[in-house]
Amino acid sequence: MKKFLALLATCAIILSLVGCNSGTTDQAEAPATDETTEETTGETIKVGVSIYKFDDNFMTLYREEIDSYFKTLDDGNTYEVTIQDGKNDQAEQTNQIDAFIQQGYDVLIINLVQSTSAATVIDKCADAGIPCIFINREPEEADMNLYDGQDYEGKYTYVGADARQSGKFQGELIADLENKGDLNGDGVLQYIMIVGDPENVDAKYRTEFSISQYLEVSGNEVEKLDEQRGDWDQAKGQEITANALVKFGDAIEVVFANNDAMALGASQAIAAAGRTVGEDIYLVGVDALEEAKQLVKDGEMTGTVLNDHIGQSHTAVDAAVKAVKGEKLEKYYWVDYVKVTSDTVDDFLN
Ligand code: GAL
Repeated sequence: MKKFLALLATCAIILSLVGCNSGTTDQAEAPATDETTEETTGETIKVGVSIYKFDDNFMTLYREEIDSYFKTLDDGNTYEVTIQDGKNDQAEQTNQIDAFIQQGYDVLIINLVQSTSAATVIDKCADAGIPCIFINREPEEADMNLYDGQDYEGKYTYVGADARQSGKFQGELIADLENKGDLNGDGVLQYIMIVGDPENVDAKYRTEFSISQYLEVSGNEVEKLDEQRGDWDQAKGQEITANALVKFGDAIEVVFANNDAMALGASQAIAAAGRTVGEDIYLVGVDALEEAKQLVKDGEMTGTVLNDHIGQSHTAVDAAVKAVKGEKLEKYYWVDYVKVTSDTVDDFLN
């Protein structure tokens, strides 16, 4: 009987501890130990991540870093991280999000397939009371303001880098060259633009701001010879550049690629056409992939811009953890881009 009473008392304590531990997660698995008196200590937190597609060089680095950074967290909780491939299909990704919600996940980290789906995702998460961290593909401002003044405000956020800055840096990489990229000295920069995905703000802003910044810094004119969609993809970057080199030949002074994967493809096409970067053509990208940095070092790319997947993934994970602990999130968390030139590339090489 004594034993039974002692057991009852222990159960009562445990129940009260679990009850006190509110405002953190809905998980019922909190172990019944004294540690549960700490806010979320000792809990199992289920984190659902959906990446717009796995087959993307930059987002592969990003998602691997999300996973490894969660493993380094040392706050007493166990983070169970499930990362899914959106396969570049919004319907598929929406199903994944629905499943995460139904299965009682505690927080979501979402790299949208289509930024325009943000409102739907926010509404679903708000209904379920699950915090949501958007990464890499910035939702419309109106969507980020949807829950202003309501309970769900501060439970969702966007973590990213300002693509205008990366575009400006690309423009400067060319404008800062001694000849301002104007190989034939006619005061006009003849260029081709390889666009990522025109629906994506990163692509829009890089396309626009690389040129506006070039115009501002150089004082030259520009002439766009070609602009093609390359879907962030190396093979497409190669094909677009190869075709443009056939069509416009020596007239092309600069290849602007919205990302490094496409720039790597462009670099293959440039070599195959017998052109030499730094001598008779220039090439810039964004992301600072390892291969691209090597090309910059070897003089085969003019420059790139570091898209800091480490800073962004850590910020996203930190935001997710904060949200799970009931802390209010900022609406935006920004991580800076950094220019990478042949002079500075050694500082960035691993
Ligand atoms: C960009 C990045 C690209 C691609 C894209 C996907 O920020 O530069 O390489 O990963 O995101 O949305």
